[in-house]
Amino acid sequence: MKKRILTGIRPTGRLHVGHYFGMLRQIAELQDDFESLVMIADVQALTDNFHRPQKVRAMVLEVAYDLIAGGVDPARSTLFIQSLIPEIAELTLYYGNLVTISRLQQNPTVKAEIAQKRALFGNSVTYGFLGYPVSQAADITAFDADLVPVGEDQLPQIELTREIVRKFNQLYGPTLKEPQARVLHTARIRGLDGGSKMGKSLGNALFLSDEAATVDRKIRSALTDPQKLHLHDPGHPEVCTVFEYHGLFNREGLGSIAAECRSGVRGCVACKRELAERVNAFLEPHRRRRAELEARPSEVLEILMEGTRRARAIAREVLARVKERLHLDYLGGVA
Ligand code: TRP
Repeated sequence: MKKRILTGIRPTGRLHVGHYFGMLRQIAELQDDFESLVMIADVQALTDNFHRPQKVRAMVLEVAYDLIAGGVDPARSTLFIQSLIPEIAELTLYYGNLVTISRLQQNPTVKAEIAQKRALFGNSVTYGFLGYPVSQAADITAFDADLVPVGEDQLPQIELTREIVRKFNQLYGPTLKEPQARVLHTARIRGLDGGSKMGKSLGNALFLSDEAATVDRKIRSALTDPQKLHLHDPGHPEVCTVFEYHGLFNREGLGSIAAECRSGVRGCVACKRELAERVNAFLEPHRRRRAELEARPSEVLEILMEGTRRARAIAREVLARVKERLHLDYLGGVA
């Protein structure tokens, strides 16, 4: 029997190149060796987008296009929508009794997110946002997931999930599976502006769905070595964002690019043009597959519904087990 992995993604924007290397490509590789569940976490997205639900709704499909075009194969992975699995919400409620407020307030990732979202939360965060890691524990345990592929920043959520599982099992008897994190190697991809991270809200992202002309324009204005002002000035590839991107899209060319840059034969304009060509060659198949999916939104929704049906069957069983343990198993559970 293959082990089961579950991964979740918040539908808050189209996916960019950082998502591709940091997550998507690796998830696509894992689907051969694992039974793979990929959840579009619209309920979690609402915890910081409650003021614009229509945006979350629109992004569910956009993210589905990017996931499928980027290699999540609906024939091998179960792709589904979180809000269509009410069992997750019910588990979240029960898990709330096993987690203290102070435990939630110590979560370093949530703390950092609250600090970034001051405009939304001011100095009083919502119960829903503070509690999203509890709901994430429900996401994971609802499907008896063995492994959760995540970036480093999500490790506190997996740790909390494991604590909830242990507490539940210790109080009520062995019921839930304790998952493990599988850390995705995310050499954080810098933004085109040289910022520490690519992020859609930072305005420095290269989207998988960007058109060729947009890619050209974004790369033309990318940051290079600030000390290299003229074509023949010797450059410092180690500080150059464009060079870093050549490392992702143009591995073979890297050695000669570095040498040419350092010796001053390579100018930034040509270097960027070459990068844009590489990036566009890489993105072209994605754009093509995505366009095919975009032309058939109802088929993509049907894929999501089919995945949701499969996923929900698992969650129903887990919830039944949980309710039995909590002595909430009245006469088969339906009134
Ligand atoms: N919090 C995750 C993120 O922001 C998304 C997510 C929601 C998730 N539910 C999950 C990740 C369950 C792994 C497992 O990236």
